[in-house]
Amino acid sequence: MLRSDLPGVLAIESQANPVPWLAADFEVFLRDPADAERPPVNGPVGWVWANPEVQGFACVVGAADEAELQAIAIARDRWGLGLGSALMDVLCVWARANAYRTLHLEVREGNARALQFYRRWGFAEAGRRPKYYRDNGEAALLLVKAIEGPQAAPGE
Ligand SMILES: CC(C)(COP(=O)(O)OP(=O)(O)OC[C@H]1O[C@@H](n2cnc3c(N)ncnc32)[C@H](O)[C@@H]1OP(=O)(O)O)[C@@H](O)C(=O)NCCC(=O)NCCS
Repeated sequence: MLRSDLPGVLAIESQANPVPWLAADFEVFLRDPADAERPPVNGPVGWVWANPEVQGFACVVGAADEAELQAIAIARDRWGLGLGSALMDVLCVWARANAYRTLHLEVREGNARALQFYRRWGFAEAGRRPKYYRDNGEAALLLVKAIEGPQAAPGE
């Protein structure tokens, strides 16, 4: 995700999220164009799906052996075409390549479409935070997915 992607990202976010992130919230996920092909192993990294305009994005933070998916959204008129899955596929390849063992996220309990999407991707419920979202008192479900594949041996 480059600074030049921000207008497209914000347009999607404003439609996708009941309490949308603002430009400042995306700041840490932006990459310098020179580094765009080499996402960092640790810390925040943002991705966009663009063809050529931005059609979706994902923001993930890696720390130790876990990665947390903090945001993912596809433009409303592009849902159901596999773009969310394409982004998730990229995230899983990135997580595997960087030896993350698990991918975590929080989702609104009532977000049936996202829950169905995550379950199809092998996420399982790992916890529930009642009244987590302050705008409507909705609970958050904590989901986790094991990242399979070759992992770095302990100590490597
Ligand atoms: C959740 C979200 C990211 C999914 O993105 P998406 O691009 O619609 O996801 P996909 O197209 O990969 O998959 C969604 C459905 O389309 C179907 N699909 C995938 N490729 C398809 C294709 N080529 N043709 C037809 N259908 C297809 C999938 O089977 C899936 O159906 P299912 O959910 O019944 O199994 C999207 O709905 C979104 O942006 N929601 C708003 C933001 C949000 O809630 N984010 C999560 C916050 S935690």
